[in-house]
Amino acid sequence: MSFEVLRILQIGDIHQPEWPLEREGRDVKTALQSQLFADGLGWYRIERILAALLHHADSADAIVFVGDYTTKGDALGLETCIAHFAALLRPELGSDRDIPIIAVPGNHDVNKDFATDVGISSKFRTLQGLVRYRKWQALPVETLISTDLERNGMAAGRIFSVNTCMGSWELAAFGESTLQTLTLLRQMTETGRVPKVSNNSFVNETGDVENLQYDNYDAPFVLQNVLSAMSQALSQAPPSCALIAVGHHNLLQQEVPRYAPYAELLNSGALRKTLQACDRSTIYLHGHIHDGPIEIISDAENPNRQIVSVSAPALTHGFNLLEVHVTEDGPPLGVNVRRFRLKPNGNVMEELPVTIPLFSLTHKQRVLKREAEVIAVVEDEQRIRFVKLIDLPKIRALGLPEKDLGALVISLYWRKLLHIDYISSPSSEWMLKAMEA
Ligand SMILES: [Fe+2]
Repeated sequence: MSFEVLRILQIGDIHQPEWPLEREGRDVKTALQSQLFADGLGWYRIERILAALLHHADSADAIVFVGDYTTKGDALGLETCIAHFAALLRPELGSDRDIPIIAVPGNHDVNKDFATDVGISSKFRTLQGLVRYRKWQALPVETLISTDLERNGMAAGRIFSVNTCMGSWELAAFGESTLQTLTLLRQMTETGRVPKVSNNSFVNETGDVENLQYDNYDAPFVLQNVLSAMSQALSQAPPSCALIAVGHHNLLQQEVPRYAPYAELLNSGALRKTLQACDRSTIYLHGHIHDGPIEIISDAENPNRQIVSVSAPALTHGFNLLEVHVTEDGPPLGVNVRRFRLKPNGNVMEELPVTIPLFSLTHKQRVLKREAEVIAVVEDEQRIRFVKLIDLPKIRALGLPEKDLGALVISLYWRKLLHIDYISSPSSEWMLKAMEA
């Protein structure tokens, strides 16, 4: 048995060009002060985030953007954003590493005019073209896009990117009676028969009926044929392969209520059911809510069917790095979600990682003899570095190569039979600790 780590960098909503470009960490009282000094004293929030992001991009196996590159899907905003990140990430990855960059659309990447004029799928064509031009993985529009993360010629992880924004912001999403009402309202506002009011009206402050789409109506959903394709692909994946889906929208309603009509993913229940139907743990990465909750959606009847749903905050607040532990000959072990967040002092700090096993613990408690011996040695020592453990006579007597011993202690870690500090570092830095009784 050997184990591998798959590192996936998750980048949340960007909303270019609304990055806060004011300098932080200064208090400018008056314009009479020297602008030169005032500028020199401040720092840009986005610079700190991007520096930390680049540091971790270097070791990532895949980079995932969860959508909302812009706010109104304007072509210039999309182009600027994709070009910026393409230029930023590619050189850092080095010429000998060509890792997949995966992007899904967000509802705010849909342009209102496109949505009205060109139809339900073509409204994504600007973003689709930009992503293709930069040689990122294909943008999911009407189909499921699958990307393999390989180890030793095998798929150790499979990432499914999904378009959750099919119905977003277009008249085609509305039923006949709503369309008739909108048409009537437009005619009435054009003839001045409807006053421009902001409350208790279908018409917004400017009296602009079409803007109603942006102000009030979203209608996100996933196409049924994409769910069917995903269901089939999940069931056909090798048992040792980590299964990761990426979409823009959240699967569950959140703390902040959204009470506009059709604001949440309309068929999130169907997407959840599709992910759970494969009888294995899956990971779902998303954005949209500009917050970073990590939720586990489980099925009481079958504990193996859990969805680990991980949200990335807006990029101006930080990003996530997921470390998925997989083995060659067994199911994936677990995922460490490492959360990097911008703090008020301007530093990007790593918060405590959230560690989630990807199997049901009740099915993994049988302890092999040599595992019991390793646990006993760690309990005797209370805490011991992995490199010291290897040299102990009792451990040498097990006759395990270092790689296999590493996989053994990682398996014990995920089964909560021992603890490892610095698990994100190379094994030479691991500190093994006995679990508290
Ligand atoms: Fe957003």
